[in-house]
Amino acid sequence: MKHLIDIKDLSTQEIEDLIKVAQDIIKNKEKYSEKCKGKKLATLFYEPSTRTRLSFEAAMLELGGNVLGFSSAQTSSAAKGESISDTIKVIGGYADIIVIRHPKEGSALVASMKSDVPIINAGDGGHNHPTQTLTDLITIQMEKHRLSNLNIGICGDLKFGRTVHSLITAMSRYKNIKFYLISPKELKIPDYIKTNILEKNNIPYIETKDIEEYLGDLDILYMTRVQKERFFNEDDYIRLKDYYILNKEKLKKAKEDLCIMHPLPRVNEISTDVDEDKRAAYFKQAKYGKYIRMALILKLLEIE
Ligand code: CP
Repeated sequence: MKHLIDIKDLSTQEIEDLIKVAQDIIKNKEKYSEKCKGKKLATLFYEPSTRTRLSFEAAMLELGGNVLGFSSAQTSSAAKGESISDTIKVIGGYADIIVIRHPKEGSALVASMKSDVPIINAGDGGHNHPTQTLTDLITIQMEKHRLSNLNIGICGDLKFGRTVHSLITAMSRYKNIKFYLISPKELKIPDYIKTNILEKNNIPYIETKDIEEYLGDLDILYMTRVQKERFFNEDDYIRLKDYYILNKEKLKKAKEDLCIMHPLPRVNEISTDVDEDKRAAYFKQAKYGKYIRMALILKLLEIE
């Protein structure tokens, strides 16, 4: 049985196959509308979510299946002290596939070790968010028509932003990728990502504090929110939260075919005046997320 805990659980070929299936779903929705008839997907969300939980639920419903779950730890027996392992053993008797988001790093891996059904990691603390990465990859493929030969700027909270860590890991497999890591010094990319992913794979990268310095070189600009929920000190969050604000004026320096991405939710880091710019891809990105999750559900349930 296969789980998805880390984007590294999928080979490059498997990722590309998922993207192809998602693209086919976009074109031929009817063909897929009963593929999961009689199947149930459980969403166990111990942390808030809008896109990930609801796109998984929409994905399963559009495949003809059913959904159940909880959207906060407080409304589950976790509030009474139940462990993840016990919860997973129980839910495995109610559902065919489980999606879990939890604030603790490694929680989805623990869940997968105790589960009789496939587990999908929908975010474990500041660690990984592999289905966001699949969403990002299909967005890059749809908008740029390639996954190689790209200058990728990633801006904001590179320390706590789990989507960033998974995205760098995934894109490091492709040819001729260069990263521009844009963050204040307090929110720099963790050393283990630099050592184990970038340097190990000889991927060129530049670290800078200045969003405008390399803006004209970028094919993709991936903005991120400062992750308030991961800060220990509120003063630090307040000092850093508006460090970057991308607006129409700054974008004058960018390429005409720049692709602006954001995993969302956005706070202030992209001004709403950017939303009408043809280069803004973040709302399309959220929509692509549903289709790639449909493809993933089919794969993990071994449905053709
Ligand atoms: N991108 C993302 O994970 O959004 P949610 O927190 O709303 O699920």
